[in-house]
Amino acid sequence: MLKISPSLLAANFANLESDIKAVEDAGVEWLHLDVMDGMFVPNISFGPCVISSIRKKSKLYFDVHLMINEPIRYIEDYKNSGADGVTVHLEACSDVSGTLEKIRSLGMKAGLSIKPATPVSEIKRYIELCDLILIMTVEPGFGGQKLIPETIKKIGQVKSLCRKYNLQTEIEADGGITEQNITELINEGLTVCVAGSAVFRAKDVEEAVKKLRGT
Ligand code: DX5
Ligand code: ZN
Repeated sequence: MLKISPSLLAANFANLESDIKAVEDAGVEWLHLDVMDGMFVPNISFGPCVISSIRKKSKLYFDVHLMINEPIRYIEDYKNSGADGVTVHLEACSDVSGTLEKIRSLGMKAGLSIKPATPVSEIKRYIELCDLILIMTVEPGFGGQKLIPETIKKIGQVKSLCRKYNLQTEIEADGGITEQNITELINEGLTVCVAGSAVFRAKDVEEAVKKLRGT
């Protein structure tokens, strides 16, 4: 079944506890945590302190998306803060394999993400080190953008790659996902849907999650 991973970036930062409770009550499986360093992307969000504080309030799977340069420097910090999975950007790592191996060695699920302009062929040599591939469907850095249609076919390309290697890798997409465009992504092979605005900015969070699942 499709997993929904609401992006906390779109939540009300003055009311994180109640906003997280609302998505838990709506039955989501994961919580997507966007970490930005103002260098890899032109925005700054939050880091391990915030994640360890909310860890005490939630049992959801913490799906941490690191949009930071050379994330290998901070993998232990995210482990200690309570991350279940850590996804890094291929474009941000000088040692992609070493970074993915470090995530796994600490007992977390390793994810690899690519920006809209990076082809899926770049992932191929790392696929066996990945538990998850994250296809960015917008330029990383900000919530509330429109999905770039050309990125959709990359989900199907990742699915073919995983099939070829006989891997059960999660395929996640992030950015601009709505109830209007999600069916196309699911048809390509999406297994984890990140949604910020579509969930946290909805009038009725439960209804919004149901609509993303197509129910
Ligand atoms: C963008 C982040 C996304 C973003 C998604 O860099 O990685 O997770 O918060 O938000 P929406 O769903 O509003 O595009
Ligand atoms: Zn994200």
